Amino acid sequence: MPKPFVFVNVAASLDGKISDESRRQIRISCEEDLKIVDELRAASDAVMVGIGTVLADDPRLTLKNKELRGRRLREGKDENPLRVVVDSRCRVPLNSKVLDGEAKTLVAVSRAADKEKIKRISEFAEVVVFGEEKVDLKELLEYLYSRGVERVMVEGGGKLISSLVSEGLVNEMRIYYAPMIIGGSDSPTVCNGKSRIVRCRIVKIERIGEGFAVIVRFD
Ligand SMILES: NC(=O)c1ccc[n+]([C@@H]2O[C@H](COP(=O)([O-])OP(=O)(O)OC[C@H]3O[C@@H](n4cnc5c(N)ncnc54)[C@H](OP(=O)(O)O)[C@@H]3O)[C@@H](O)[C@H]2O)c1
Repeated sequence: MPKPFVFVNVAASLDGKISDESRRQIRISCEEDLKIVDELRAASDAVMVGIGTVLADDPRLTLKNKELRGRRLREGKDENPLRVVVDSRCRVPLNSKVLDGEAKTLVAVSRAADKEKIKRISEFAEVVVFGEEKVDLKELLEYLYSRGVERVMVEGGGKLISSLVSEGLVNEMRIYYAPMIIGGSDSPTVCNGKSRIVRCRIVKIERIGEGFAVIVRFD
């Protein structure tokens, strides 16, 4: 079954951490990188995050630049890409920004999710069920493709990225490295799951503001 092109974008410290031990949101990206991230979002049909990121950062996942929104509208697209939350047990809080109605949202849960909670979330977002305990990511991606999503931008966190990489579902990854060390053996890393060696190929390294970005391919 075909699936969308899956592109991961994340910001890390030089020691590969995406947050500190408190798991709170840390400003890692510089202004220049944030502009590129907005453009990458605008060029995507969907933006995906794990529930860990929603609970820690409460991101809105919409386009900041009005011109980019206008360009999407002129292209006949929605103003913002579809927001996708990977959330096995449907823990997404009702007051989270991804449920604010500013853009369409899809919450992917597993069969372990509470039916009553699914019902309540369905008032704010489309809810789809894939997998028994964890969300079956391959099935979710195939479903997204079947409804016209050709390019998915994954914006974290480390656990979701780890599953996608180890299941061979990522085509491309862009990591912005900021000139800082975060440290902490319990601080989340870019790929934060069970250890598994997956090789990739560097296609680009570019200086961005005070840091640099590496773009790799997995095919
Ligand atoms: N620097 C950056 O660019 C950046 C970007 C994003 C996030 N962050 C940071 O990353 C941290 C959050 O990352 P995280 O790793 O804890 O959470 P995450 O990857 O956002 O979400 C992981 C959660 O997703 C759910 N899930 C459902 N199906 C899954 C599957 N098949 N594979 C993997 N996960 C699945 C699981 O919870 P359930 O089983 O309950 O569903 C899992 O615990 C925060 O500290 C945040 O600030 C940093």
